[in-house]
Amino acid sequence: MDRIYITTPLYYVNAEPHLGNTYTMVLSDTLARYYRAKGSETFYLTGTDEHGDKIAQAAASAGLEPKAFTDKISATFRAVWDECGFSYDHFIRTTDDYHISYVQKVLGRVYQSGDIYFDRYSGLYCFGCERFYTDKELVNGKCPDHLTEPKMIEEENYFFRMSKYQDQLLRHIETHPQFIRPEGYKNEVLAMLREPVEDLCISRPKSRLTWGIELPFDKRYVTYVWFDALINYVSALKRRGESDFQKFWPEAQHFIGKDIVKPHGVFWPTMLLAAGLPLYRHLNVHGYWTVEGKKMSKSLGNTVSPLEMKHTIGMDAFRYFVLRESVFGQDADFRRESLIGRYNADLANNLGNLVSRILAMQGKYFAGVVQPLSKQWVDEDNELKNIYEKAESEIGRHLTELQFHRALEVLWAALDHTNRYIVQTSPFTLIKDPANHARVGEILHHLLQAICHLARLLKPFMPDTAKELQSLLAFDDGDPALEASWGNSFAAGHKVNSPKVLFPRIEAPGNQ
Ligand code: MSP
Repeated sequence: MDRIYITTPLYYVNAEPHLGNTYTMVLSDTLARYYRAKGSETFYLTGTDEHGDKIAQAAASAGLEPKAFTDKISATFRAVWDECGFSYDHFIRTTDDYHISYVQKVLGRVYQSGDIYFDRYSGLYCFGCERFYTDKELVNGKCPDHLTEPKMIEEENYFFRMSKYQDQLLRHIETHPQFIRPEGYKNEVLAMLREPVEDLCISRPKSRLTWGIELPFDKRYVTYVWFDALINYVSALKRRGESDFQKFWPEAQHFIGKDIVKPHGVFWPTMLLAAGLPLYRHLNVHGYWTVEGKKMSKSLGNTVSPLEMKHTIGMDAFRYFVLRESVFGQDADFRRESLIGRYNADLANNLGNLVSRILAMQGKYFAGVVQPLSKQWVDEDNELKNIYEKAESEIGRHLTELQFHRALEVLWAALDHTNRYIVQTSPFTLIKDPANHARVGEILHHLLQAICHLARLLKPFMPDTAKELQSLLAFDDGDPALEASWGNSFAAGHKVNSPKVLFPRIEAPGNQ
């Protein structure tokens, strides 16, 4: 059986859900829904990353103990994702007991095999990033992310022999060109691996940080956040049992943003190799969103919240916008003007009006009752059918290549074609002559079939709208008619519902 395992990064609980991490959710949720609908056995994982300095500091400034603080923010993430309707199968927290004990198991195993060693180290440490920097990585002596000067610290720590696995990983990527995609990010990782890779400091002394997972072989230390968090992708499966691990792990696809390519493209695979575990199948890297051309930040006050989107234009319209407006892997800019423009043009005028128009004619001419189809279809009818059938396979191809925007383009081309079919066949003119009633009934039957196919194809991208379309066609969720081939969805006497406004037009603020 076909299987897929889809993961998102675990979100840090020092911020709340925003456009950036919601985008990762929309992409992964769309793919999970697509595979589920296709009948593939699907496991979709998300969760929160809760250990480390940054979180301990955020808890302190909120006046809470780290655990109380992470309980609160993790619950917020979960509640927001639920309100957005994301269909994850499991929500993992790095503070969950099963995760902690699995991380300790991996640490113990890698230590036993000699790939973790103890050493004295002095180096430049950025507290914001919770890691040491080499001179080469600094920009004008400062951390490129925090723009602060790192502190020289000298400590005894544990190191992971990452360098030992460098060549093996390099060969794997060279022989599996789709391991990291799109290609630009693969090249980025290859470039990192063609330079000497340093061993990774994977411990933090408890004298400096207590909020972490204790090293099983030395109680004076906790482990580095990444050595903890990355393991979630495996611990979540191990929790379900060995057979689920065997089933899903070979089909793992990680979705991440471009800022965390190094931990996922270098640390994680070398950790897997050291732990004797197989590598994941794909690392899918998406670009960054700016807002009105600017970096999104709390201090600029320009963060876009998913719930604000849900309450203003609706979750499906938001999903449509981010999927249609961005090219997977590339950066994109969120502009409210484009959001409203696309909403009005693609959703209100195109999709919404088309469906209303068809249902209005069906109601007016036949009191909503679907008319029979004769065996003789004219060219236009066949063409309409072919467009939707072809769309189905094209969408599948685009989605496996993560071309979400292309998949939606295909769907909207089918909508445009449907509008043209109405113009060509002109049911509103034919109806004036009673001799044409049977043909008008057939034209509308084809058009209702188009809505039915549309509902099926839209499902992964706009699940609520797909449901609305199904109920306008008077089908219950899961009705086999929804999956039937062209011309076979409507039984004799089936009555569809009256139209309703799916996407009320939004007037741009200036035009009100
Ligand atoms: N906790 C780590 C991941 C550990 S995975 C084992 C982390 N968390 S994060 O909360 O900072 O980021 C989560 C995701 O949100 C990342 O994929 C990141 O790229 C994404 N985004 C955060 N801001 C973003 C934008 N402005 N645009 C697009 N995605 C961005 O990193």
